Amino acid sequence: MTKSIVTPTNTRHDEKEKTLRPTSFREYIGQERNLEKLKVFIEASKIRDDHLDHVLLYGPPGLGKTTLAQIIAHEMGVNIKITSGPAIERTGDLAAILSSLKERDVLFIDEIHRLNRTVEEVLYPAMEDYALDIMIGKGPSARSVRLDLPHFTLIGATTRAGDLSSPLRDRFGVLLRLELYDPAELRQIIDRSAQVLDVAIEDQAKWEIARRSRGTPRIVNRLLKRVSDFALVANNGVIDMPICNQALDLLEIDKLGLDQTDIKLLRTMIEHYDGGPVGLDTLAASTGEERGDIEDVCEPYLLQLGFIKRTPRGRVAMRRAYEHLGLSERYSDEREIHILNWLEESDEDE
Ligand SMILES: Nc1ncnc2c1ncn2[C@@H]1O[C@H](COP(=O)(O)OP(=O)(O)O)[C@@H](O)[C@H]1O
Ligand SMILES: [Mg+2]
Repeated sequence: MTKSIVTPTNTRHDEKEKTLRPTSFREYIGQERNLEKLKVFIEASKIRDDHLDHVLLYGPPGLGKTTLAQIIAHEMGVNIKITSGPAIERTGDLAAILSSLKERDVLFIDEIHRLNRTVEEVLYPAMEDYALDIMIGKGPSARSVRLDLPHFTLIGATTRAGDLSSPLRDRFGVLLRLELYDPAELRQIIDRSAQVLDVAIEDQAKWEIARRSRGTPRIVNRLLKRVSDFALVANNGVIDMPICNQALDLLEIDKLGLDQTDIKLLRTMIEHYDGGPVGLDTLAASTGEERGDIEDVCEPYLLQLGFIKRTPRGRVAMRRAYEHLGLSERYSDEREIHILNWLEESDEDE
């Protein structure tokens, strides 16, 4: 995918974000239901004087999974080791990490859906029995030795819980799905970030950036920084509405936070496939975008806006999408009835 300004995945330029990362529950904005549950589980584990059960965090990129993992470790008062699925290539790598953990430590595995099979199998007994089975020697004299591990907490993060094998998913005691943030929550994040970065910004401009950040804290912070660059050059550093609009328009982010990729996707659906239903693979092929990017990045936000819906036959573009693109004349009542029928098919499936 072309790395646009609204790419919610981490890029090199986000390094400075480390200082923007909340470090405690108190500073972490939104996701209230998830926090409520987590606080109870953490409290209970403290009363029980035991480690916290394994936690799986899932949801689109940039919503605060890594941040939350670090906060959990902080609130538990333990150390955290951070690694990722693709970084653990061999079982030996995982064995080394596991045996370096202390009692109750957190092991955070980002992109856990990308662990390879053999590594995953070492993880099962580690998660379940806190044991590590290793082979000693080679050939006929080889034997397996079981080592005890400390009672640690595994926190896994993934953009796609569906890509996790079910034996792995089943070994997590706590599954938390992170949701897109609403503009009021994003505005609060801007308040905090503007303070940390020492940026002067008018209230209206805060709302504008919040509305154009597609429900994603990482994008809010990035847009705030880019808009503040514009303000620095053109307006003595003060972010007011004119500067804000000018900057965001130059960055080609529209009033709803859609970028060129989203627009291309919607246009393809409407102009080439008559609004759908159209499958993900077909969309990927005809837009030249990665299927994974469409699924993780574009789709969650377009779904939240009510621009598209999923039906058992594929994705369909809704009236609002047509209106937003100025293509209302292509949308008919007849089409609406078709869509309602397709959506009903999905209810029957459930
Ligand atoms: N709930 C939140 N409150 C405030 N800032 C947040 C929150 N969630 C995420 N952020 C900000 O967004 C950035 C991206 O979050 P991160 O945890 O790296 O997302 P993920 O791991 O889900 O991709 C963080 O550096 C942090 O500054
Ligand atoms: Mg992350």
